[in-house]
Amino acid sequence: MTSSENIVIRELDFKEWEQFKNIRLYSIKEEPLAFGSTYDAESQRTPEEWKNLLTAKERNWLFADNGNRLIGIIGTIQNFRNEGNHIAYIVAFFVGSAYRKQGIGKQLLEAIIQKLKKNPEITSIRLGVTITQKDALKFYEDSGFKKIYIRKNEVKVFDRYYDEYEMELVAY
Ligand SMILES: CC(C)(COP(=O)(O)OP(=O)(O)OC[C@H]1O[C@@H](n2cnc3c(N)ncnc32)[C@H](O)[C@@H]1OP(=O)(O)O)[C@@H](O)C(=O)NCCC(=O)NCCS
Repeated sequence: MTSSENIVIRELDFKEWEQFKNIRLYSIKEEPLAFGSTYDAESQRTPEEWKNLLTAKERNWLFADNGNRLIGIIGTIQNFRNEGNHIAYIVAFFVGSAYRKQGIGKQLLEAIIQKLKKNPEITSIRLGVTITQKDALKFYEDSGFKKIYIRKNEVKVFDRYYDEYEMELVAY
């Protein structure tokens, strides 16, 4: 049995970079198709690189901590698609499979939205959703995101191509 009752959503200090590495590598291992990155590539990173990723000015991270370890992560990167620093793009969003469907993902998403809204430079929060992921679409729409356009054939999985919706939450 798992419970979301004692989950804390928090930032990490740079000294906690190993916890960041562990949840990130765990997420890529558990969901290899969900992220535009591979376990092999990310596991090569040096401690300095992990610390830099965790503290980079254009990045924001929040984590779900169950008191023993991190079980969820969400990140944003400003200017991710070279469209300007006013756009923060959601990346690396993950909750461990044993902890899903208890509202932890929603808590992470809401917390990062509130954090980004405090930054006057950021006026748009965006993310991409493969158009076949109906549950994910509804999840983001429930949090206020709206579809703004489609990227054709953006996602390739086992030689099949899928369109992706760009979704946006206006953040001012
Ligand atoms: C997306 C994710 C973080 C949601 O975490 P969670 O803690 O289960 O979220 P919540 O409990 O707050 O909400 C769950 C709801 O969101 C839906 N949902 C949201 N994103 C989803 C996704 N990518 N795939 C499937 N369902 C998703 C679930 O179906 C569920 O709906 P329900 O409550 O009506 O049954 C988690 O499903 C996950 O880690 N998925 C794998 C990685 C991934 O796809 N990340 C997003 C792309 S970067």
